[in-house]
Amino acid sequence: MNELAGKHIVLGLTGGIACYKAAELCRALVKEGATVQVVMTEAAAQFITPVTMQALSNRPVYHSQWDAREPNNMAHINLSREADAILIAPASADFMAKLLHGRADDLLSLMCLARPIETVPLLVAPAMNREMWAHPSTQRNVVQLKADGAVVFDVGSGEQACGEVGDGRMLEPAELLEEVIAFFRPKLLRGQRVLVTAGPTYEAIDPVRGITNLSSGKMGFAIARAAREAGADVTLVAGPVHLATPRGVRRVDVRSARDMQAAVQVQLPDATVFIATAAVADWRPANTAEQKIKKDGSGQPPALSFVENPDILASAAQSERAKSGALYCVGFAAESHDLLAHAQAKRARKGVPLLVGNIGPATFGQDDNALLLVDAQGTVELPRAGKLTLARQLAAEIARRLSVGR
Ligand code: C5P
Repeated sequence: MNELAGKHIVLGLTGGIACYKAAELCRALVKEGATVQVVMTEAAAQFITPVTMQALSNRPVYHSQWDAREPNNMAHINLSREADAILIAPASADFMAKLLHGRADDLLSLMCLARPIETVPLLVAPAMNREMWAHPSTQRNVVQLKADGAVVFDVGSGEQACGEVGDGRMLEPAELLEEVIAFFRPKLLRGQRVLVTAGPTYEAIDPVRGITNLSSGKMGFAIARAAREAGADVTLVAGPVHLATPRGVRRVDVRSARDMQAAVQVQLPDATVFIATAAVADWRPANTAEQKIKKDGSGQPPALSFVENPDILASAAQSERAKSGALYCVGFAAESHDLLAHAQAKRARKGVPLLVGNIGPATFGQDDNALLLVDAQGTVELPRAGKLTLARQLAAEIARRLSVGR
């Protein structure tokens, strides 16, 4: 919470049914500590009233370029000078076309044109019918808006207010909030391609039973999110967990350790950083029964034998790219005691430059954690905090080591 403390966001609404989502978005931005100044076009006011937006933002809404409230009568200048970002959500097809041509015949378009282009970023969340979105003119406008320096968010896909199904819905308020938070994060890992493993693995005994562990995947998912916020291109290989994919992260779902290894091998040649947070099962049943193992009435449980799983991290760390410095490998150690000694030993055994220790029972399934970073230079303690906070600190620590090493 308070991810946006100190940020002043001008939230622009243009005409579209997605205006109803802008109410929720405004509330979400305010809850994260931002101050929000709403500016609406005439068309937006057909969909949602300025009264609603004023109540949610706790500020009078602006909609006219002739607004006499401003002493200098220049709302378009004053509003844009105060902003840390202008977020147009929803951005209609018509408004995007207007932006593109630098037209300025209402307060919102006038303000966008008048904004100091170097210091006040323009974030655009398109919302329209699928045919309008797919139309070559809209797609051309998206390309040109990006070339002109705007950040144009993706659209969602699914059922539309008109009853049609396809691309063009505005992202949900929670998704846009995540995008806005990410936008403001320092881009410490720009240019890096980060591969993360997360969650437990599941090793089948028979079609209905298996061996797994209590890893929730939360730390790995937080790291994937933090790396993406820091500007990296991120792929997340996830064991069986029930977590939402962080925005902008490519996700590959796997089940067993061997599935995870196969997925990692496909991704590794492109990666520059590999962060192995997954709690990979050390062993798997030597044989998986094709049918459910039944009680046979003898009172004797079935005898299970195990074989060792491949060590995904250790083999990545031994690759030529890792040895040449093209791939930076980070391992995790979940221990129950003697964290420092175990982490140091594991770092040596796995052959990784950086090993991150945490106390397993104190982190599995929790929303917070504490980390101990061990590398050739010594140790760094990251005291107990939320997993996203720690993930961001870890991303910064990795970025620092990358810039020193290269
Ligand atoms: O040996 P241990 O399981 O304690 O090592 C933990 C570290 O190694 C973690 O980074 C984990 O993701 C990784 N690992 C792996 N493949 C395995 C076992 C662990 O990548 N088979």
